[in-house]
Amino acid sequence: MSSSLEIPDDEKGYDLELFCVPKHYENDLERVFIPHGLIMDRTERLARDIMRDMGEHHIVALCVLKGGYKFFADLLDYIKALNRNSDKSVPLTVDFIRLKNYSNDESTNSVKIIGGDELSALSGKNVLIVEDIVETGKTMQTLLSILNGYNPKMVKVVSLLVKRTPRSSGYRPDYTGFEIPDKFVVGYALDYNEYFRDLSHICLMSEQGKQKYKV
Ligand code: HPA
Ligand code: MG
Repeated sequence: MSSSLEIPDDEKGYDLELFCVPKHYENDLERVFIPHGLIMDRTERLARDIMRDMGEHHIVALCVLKGGYKFFADLLDYIKALNRNSDKSVPLTVDFIRLKNYSNDESTNSVKIIGGDELSALSGKNVLIVEDIVETGKTMQTLLSILNGYNPKMVKVVSLLVKRTPRSSGYRPDYTGFEIPDKFVVGYALDYNEYFRDLSHICLMSEQGKQKYKV
């Protein structure tokens, strides 16, 4: 397991006035928590770490929608840059899935995979699961056990964020961009009731934002 950039509990983030945010969200946000540029710089390094470990064999990159789409696109751009600038390169194919959670009670957690190609195509492949955030870890553990049933050569998980929370099952992804405090964040494709995906920075919402987009 590789290290992550740990954001401490008392991190305040940055004044909104110091960055550009869409006008339609100006009053719905409190602070910029992780600026877009920092996300990109950390993602560039994750791409290098991943290629070091997986770059010997055809990689199937599996994007967990919707929250993972920005991170997936940017991570793959960095991996493609490595592929065209190194002596060594491997083919990369992509697939997109959504996960539906059916949690009946605390102990049973069933996950349904929606969309994507036949999972039997993963047999013998190096599979890279790309996720936006790991909170309890239970969904990812369930997904991993499903995928392992299809006999991939290797499965690695990269998550942009991991939340430090007492609700965690203890599961840790193979690669983590940032470890964040137990706060709700939005932006860079992470949403609150489908809003804020169209925001480049990862931010904290204001009370007004929480009220406005509450369902
Ligand atoms: N933000 C957005 N989506 C999430 C979060 C979060 O903090 N945690 C789990 N899903
Ligand atoms: Mg997600």
